[in-house]
Amino acid sequence: MEFKEGLTFDDVLLVPKYSDITSRSQTDLSTKLSRNISLNIPFTSANMDTVTESAMAVVMARAGGIGFIHRFLTIQEQANEVLKVKRSGSVIIENPYIINQDKTVQDAIDYANEKEVSGLLVVDSNSKLTGIVTDRDLLFEKNTTHLIKDVMTKDVVTAKSGTSPEEAKEILHKHRIEKLPIVDDSGSIAGLITSKDITNIAAYPLASKDKKGRPLVGAAVGVKGDFLERTEALLGAGADVLVVDIAHGHSENAINTVRNIKKAYPDCELIAGNVATSHGAEDLIKAGVDAVKVGVGSGSICITRVITGSGVPQLTAVMDCAKIGREYSIPIISDGGTRTSGDATKALAAGASSVMVGSMLGGTDESPGTVLTKNGKRFKVYRGMASLGASLGRKSKDSGSVSFDDDLNDYVAEGVEAMVPYKGTVTDILKQLTGGVRSGLSYCGAHNITQMQDNAEFIKMSRAGFAESQPHDVSVM
Ligand code: XMP
Repeated sequence: MEFKEGLTFDDVLLVPKYSDITSRSQTDLSTKLSRNISLNIPFTSANMDTVTESAMAVVMARAGGIGFIHRFLTIQEQANEVLKVKRSGSVIIENPYIINQDKTVQDAIDYANEKEVSGLLVVDSNSKLTGIVTDRDLLFEKNTTHLIKDVMTKDVVTAKSGTSPEEAKEILHKHRIEKLPIVDDSGSIAGLITSKDITNIAAYPLASKDKKGRPLVGAAVGVKGDFLERTEALLGAGADVLVVDIAHGHSENAINTVRNIKKAYPDCELIAGNVATSHGAEDLIKAGVDAVKVGVGSGSICITRVITGSGVPQLTAVMDCAKIGREYSIPIISDGGTRTSGDATKALAAGASSVMVGSMLGGTDESPGTVLTKNGKRFKVYRGMASLGASLGRKSKDSGSVSFDDDLNDYVAEGVEAMVPYKGTVTDILKQLTGGVRSGLSYCGAHNITQMQDNAEFIKMSRAGFAESQPHDVSVM
């Protein structure tokens, strides 16, 4: 039996190369997520219940990446998260939320809260626009049994179908309003343009968008039970890409799931994983995937290698899979083990087209969960999807509760529950990550990721080399 050498990020460095780059802004981080989807930055947020729901996915897309909504939700809940991302920004909201004018103020408050919007368009029984109610109309209304038609703003400024963002901006400014309903010739609602969406277009120039100008969003499905039903609901809600995500992606279960989804929804952009070998990547590619997710046991909360003894150090896994990916022109996503922008740069240089991040994005304002305080320091929970806690959470979602009959000793966890320091907003973390990778390109003498992959030369280092690479012989403040 032969031993293969496996290396990971801390085992190597990228050898510096001559660079003609004088400013980081000359570098281009655009990349392919999958066969048909491009991103402006090579980062995706992990489909984990302590990382990605709609709030995270919105920020990731605004920055030029993409978030994957986790699947430990009911089908309806997960589809709603996708919908929230899609509605969070677009040139025009095609189906704005409406309410009948004969409903009460309380009805409007409840509906706006449920949909998490600040205003509703009001219609009569013929579905014609008659008014608009916003937070301002509802907030201080003492009698919530009043009818909407008595409190709404009636003289609504509207625009015709086909109004451009520039024209809409002028109308919004001229009338000092924030919402501009679009109506067709018959007076029926054809959409809504909001000032927030118009300003967002300028504020997020790198944003990842679909053909309608809405944020890109991905979502995860499993390999058992309801995965086809879930796929249908997620695609129906507008998900741009799905990921078949299981711990051991080089398996009959994963391959059959990929085949079944592609057969039922041939246009579905589909990623699958996780694998850690070239054979694993090739089998998923042959089954029809549009990108392969790579990483077994590399995640910060993973104990797969401890529990099962299986895995491949992440850098070697990425290199092996990327070789096959290049042969078939299928992008590779490095998933797990990224702790710094340097790790991300190494993963990209080794052949990954993008990097999926978990722990670095956990503990942020946009990650699900509340901020906890311990010994005066602020934390958030970050846990493996195969941890006992995440598994119990999902069980109670599926059945409404966890029964005392459930023998928890039967469950072998492959992930741990942890706390990560509260870090503020994801936007700042992404700035650090992308800034670091841009500098990394420059050190490799590359203007973009493909050039870096062509130029990259890795050097293996000793333990002394690693120690020298860290701050040393000083007290770090
Ligand atoms: P990082 O290192 O970014 O890794 O925190 C995130 C990735 O870890 C994987 N993941 C798990 N792996 N047991 C595992 O072996 C788990 O419970 C678990 N939960 C998440 C996943 O690929 C994620 O994107």
